Amino acid sequence: MFKNNRSLKFSKRVGERYGWFKAFDDVVPFIFSYLDNNEWKIIEEWYKETDEKSLIGEASVPFMSILQGLVMGNSIQRVVQLGHYAGYSTLLLGFMLRKMKKKHSLVTIDIDAFISDFTSSWVKKAGLTDYIKVINSDSTDLESMKVAVKYLQDEPQMVIIDSSHQYQHTKNELNLWYKTLRMGGFLVLHDTSEFSSQYDMTNKGGVYKAFVDWCIEEKIKSSINIFPFGNSAEENTYLDVNGIGIIQKRNF
Ligand SMILES: C[S@@+](CC[C@H](N)C(=O)[O-])C[C@H]1O[C@@H](n2cnc3c(N)ncnc32)[C@H](O)[C@@H]1O
Repeated sequence: MFKNNRSLKFSKRVGERYGWFKAFDDVVPFIFSYLDNNEWKIIEEWYKETDEKSLIGEASVPFMSILQGLVMGNSIQRVVQLGHYAGYSTLLLGFMLRKMKKKHSLVTIDIDAFISDFTSSWVKKAGLTDYIKVINSDSTDLESMKVAVKYLQDEPQMVIIDSSHQYQHTKNELNLWYKTLRMGGFLVLHDTSEFSSQYDMTNKGGVYKAFVDWCIEEKIKSSINIFPFGNSAEENTYLDVNGIGIIQKRNF
């Protein structure tokens, strides 16, 4: 374990985004500790600016830690992300891919133009423009999918879904991106918990129901949905109440 105290101070900060860090008051999560000093400086500045601008909506330490294990543990070099918001997961994934020297390795798509400009500006600030392409569009747009595959120069090995939280839209994303995924690759979804169904503005059961129904409809044999036993972090071993779902593309 690297000896640095980077995010330890976060455990004392108030506010929803810092809640995760109560569990990390004496250890720096690996998603931060392995960064070099310049990368960590970027993350610290990103927290400062997004705190000031109230751009809060990033994924959790447990979710990012699983992504890090999958990406860095398998030398993955072609990733698509659906939903980047203010750029947190984009920067952390970009740093992972740069450590592995994988250029043109992440395409990230978001429907919000303001937020896409914001994320692009941070990608530039972090020196990650050789590694990441930011696209402003709906995540089910066929043209964007083609642009993504062209940029990555082959089928994605991993598609991360963290976007609308809506039942039908999530199923549309699963339909489109599963087809595009390399055989053996992963679809990784945030917000697959029952608790997170509440984020679905259409009230149709959100990512949770989309994940369950789609896996049954498509006869998916290789999937896992980890979501909490209760509704609070204290009750759980996996600390993110929003859960994580992973589907592996297989032909048997
Ligand atoms: C929870 S945030 C993503 C957080 C990000 N993955 C992170 O950890 O930093 C969800 C994002 O999905 C985007 N979104 C919502 N509907 C979408 C759609 N139909 N297509 C693409 N992006 C969408 C929103 O604009 C928002 O920025």
